[in-house]
Amino acid sequence: MTLLNTIVLDDISQAAEILRRGGLVAFSTETVFGLGADATNISALAKLFAAKGRPSDNPLIVHVAEVDQWPIVARTMPEVAERLLAKFAPGPLTVVLPKHSSICDSVTAGLDTVGLRIPNHSQARSLIAAAGVPIAAPSANRSGLPSGTTWQTVLEDLDGRIDAVLRGSTCAIGIESTVVDCVSKPPRLLRPGAISLAELQSIAPELRVYAPTDDRDATANSPGLRHPHYKPSAVVHSVEGASQADRMMKSQPKSAAKLEQHLANCAYCGLDESKLASYLGASRRFESVEEYAHALYEFMRSVDRLGIQFLYCQRPSARGIGAALNDRLTRAASPK
Ligand code: TXA
Ligand code: MG
Repeated sequence: MTLLNTIVLDDISQAAEILRRGGLVAFSTETVFGLGADATNISALAKLFAAKGRPSDNPLIVHVAEVDQWPIVARTMPEVAERLLAKFAPGPLTVVLPKHSSICDSVTAGLDTVGLRIPNHSQARSLIAAAGVPIAAPSANRSGLPSGTTWQTVLEDLDGRIDAVLRGSTCAIGIESTVVDCVSKPPRLLRPGAISLAELQSIAPELRVYAPTDDRDATANSPGLRHPHYKPSAVVHSVEGASQADRMMKSQPKSAAKLEQHLANCAYCGLDESKLASYLGASRRFESVEEYAHALYEFMRSVDRLGIQFLYCQRPSARGIGAALNDRLTRAASPK
C-alpha cells in the first residue's frame, strides 16, 4: 500500500471532514481507540481493511452519536436491544441488529446483521455527529495486536497507513465493548466487556453466553472470534498468580547465569506481586481489576518496546470486568 502522511489533529471538524471525504481517522472512545471510516463508502472501507491488515470476514461495529439514529444502521430494533440500549447506551455496549441496506456489505462481512454502538465519550460523539454519516470503527491497531488505548500507540501502529489521529484521552475502560447478538433467540453474549453478564441479565434475564460448537458455527455467528487477537510479540502465559509465574520462570534454565538472563527476558503483571519482580525485565501490580483492564494493553506494548520475550499475566476472578479480562488473556495466550 502507498504510504500516507498521517497527521495528528486536535480539531474535530477537520477530522470529520476527512471522514466525510472517505478518509480514515483514529479517535478515542471510552473502551479503546477506534479507526473510523464512513460505513456507507465502499472505497473508504476497503482502505480501512488494508490499513489494519484485517481479514475481510471479520465484521466491523458501526457507531452513531445518538441512540435514536439507529434507523440509519438497522432495519428494525428488536425489543431486547431496546431494553439494553435504554439502560447501557451511550456506553461500552454493542448490539447486533438486522442490517440496513445503506450500510455496505463489506462492513458486516456479508452478514445480514450489523453491530451498533453509541460510545460514551464526548469527543467521539462530536466527531461522529459532525461527520454526519454512520462510522464503522474497529479497534485502531494492526490486526491481531493488542488494541490501542493511547493516541501515541495508535500512531506507532498505523503511522503512514491512515489519514489522521484525533488526539484524545487515554481510554478509561481499556478493553473493547460487550457485544450482544439481539437477533438470535434467546439473545446471546458474543464478547464479554465492561458491562458484565450479570448486569446484562438484570435487564434481559433470557440472555445466554454464546459458545460456538465448531468453526463453521463461529464463522456464521461471530466471525471475529476465530482470528488471533490481542497478541503482543511477547509470548503470553495466563497464570493463576505470581507464585505460579515464578515457578514457571525458574523452571526454565539450568545454570544461575542463564537464570538471570532468562528472568530479564520475562515480565509479570497482575493484582499480586512477583517475588522475582526486581530480576524481571518489567513488572506491574494493579490496584484493582478495573485498573488492570485499563492498563493491560499498554503494558503489553511496553513489554514489546523493551524487547522482552515472555509475559506472564495473572487471571483475575471472573467478577465484573474480570470475565472480559480473562477472555482477552486467554486469546492473547492462545497458540493460534
Ligand atoms: O469497544 C469496541 O467495541 C471498539 C470501539 C472502537 O468501539 N471496537 C472494536 O471493534 O473492538 P473490533 O472490530 O475490534 O471488534 C468487533 C467485534 C468482533 O469480535 C466482531 O466479530 C464483532 O464485533 N461483530 C461486529 N459485527 C458483528 C455482527 N454483525 N455479528 C456478530 N459479531 C459482530
Ligand atoms: Mg479489534
